[in-house]
Amino acid sequence: MSLRTIWWDSEKRAVAMIDQTLLPERLETIEVDSIDGLCEAILALRVRGAPALGAAGAYGLALAAARSDSTDPTALLQEIEKAAEIIKGARPTAINLSWGVDRVMRALDEIKASDDLDEIRSAALKEAESIAEEDVATNRALGDVGTSLLEDGDVVLTHCNAGRLACVGWGTALGVIRSAVAEGKKISVYACETRPLHQGSRLTAWELSEDEIPVTLICDNMSGMVMREGRIDKVIVGADRITKDAVFNKIGTYSHAVLAKAHNIPFYVAAPISTFDLDSLEKDVVIEERDADEIRRLGDKQLAPPDVKVYNPAFDATPLELVTAIITERGIYRPPEMPDVG
Ligand code: MRU
Repeated sequence: MSLRTIWWDSEKRAVAMIDQTLLPERLETIEVDSIDGLCEAILALRVRGAPALGAAGAYGLALAAARSDSTDPTALLQEIEKAAEIIKGARPTAINLSWGVDRVMRALDEIKASDDLDEIRSAALKEAESIAEEDVATNRALGDVGTSLLEDGDVVLTHCNAGRLACVGWGTALGVIRSAVAEGKKISVYACETRPLHQGSRLTAWELSEDEIPVTLICDNMSGMVMREGRIDKVIVGADRITKDAVFNKIGTYSHAVLAKAHNIPFYVAAPISTFDLDSLEKDVVIEERDADEIRRLGDKQLAPPDVKVYNPAFDATPLELVTAIITERGIYRPPEMPDVG
C-alpha cells in the first residue's frame, strides 16, 4: 500500500502528512503538533485537495484534544470547539474541510455528558480515523463505479490534482483512472499544469508517473487545441463543492468544460457524497482568493511588475449544464439528476 497523504502519529501525538509543496523534487513527511501549525499547512497547501482537507480538519480536532492541558471536560470541549472554528476558517471553498470538522463535533456531542477526559480524546481520534479509513474505501468504490465510463484506449484530460494526494488515498478523478487501469484498460492522461500553483505538473504528473500510467503534461491554455486535434476522449476532474447548480473546482476547470462542450467531449466530475452541498447555490459559495505573488512570482523569480494588480481566485464554478455526469461512490448521476444527500 502506498503512503497515505495524511495520518495520525500516535507516538508524537501529531498530525503527519506528506508535504506536497516539496513534490516532485522530494517526497518528505512532516508532523504538525498545534492548530496553528495545521492551519499553516492547510494555507500553504502542504495538505490540499477536498477529501484530504476533510481528514485534516478531523485530525485537527483530535490534535486539539490530545494536546490540551485542560483538566476539566467542559473546558476541553470548549477548546475543541474553538479549534473547530479556526480550522474551518482556514480555506472556505472546499466543503470537505468543514464536513470533517463537523463530523467529529457531532461524535463529541454524543458523549457531551462525559466527565472522562480520555473518553473525549479517544472519541475525537476514533472519528477522525474513521473518516480517513472511509475516504480510501469511498474512493475505491467511486473508482469502480466510474470505470464503466472509460473504454480501453481512452485518453483523458484532467485538471489540478484529484489523485491520491488530494485524498487520504487512491483519488477521485485519478481514482477512476486507476480503477480502469487495474481492470486492464489502457488509459492515458493529459494533465494540465494548473497555474498558478502547478498541482497538475507537480502532483498529478508525479503520481501518474509513479504508477506508470502514461501522462502528457500540457499548459492550461492548450486544452482547446488538444481537443480540437482529436487527442482527448473524455475529461475527468474532481470537485471542491457541488451545489444545486454548479461544480466548484480548481480555477481553469470551467474553461475546460466549455471547451469540452464545444468539441462534443464528455465532461465528468468525480467526487464523494461528502463534497455535495445541495442546500446552497453557486452565489452562496465563497471562492478563496489567494496571494497576488502566486501569480507575480515563481519561487525566487519575479514574473511580473512587483506591484501589478492581480486577480487570483483559487476556484471557479462550472454550471451543471456543462457536466455530462457526476461519478460518486453511490453511482453515476447525470445532472439535473443528483444524489439524495439527506
Ligand atoms: O487548491 P487545491 O490544490 O486544494 O485544489 C484542489 C482541487 O481543486 C481538486 O481538484 C479538488 O479538491 C478535488 S480533489 C479530489
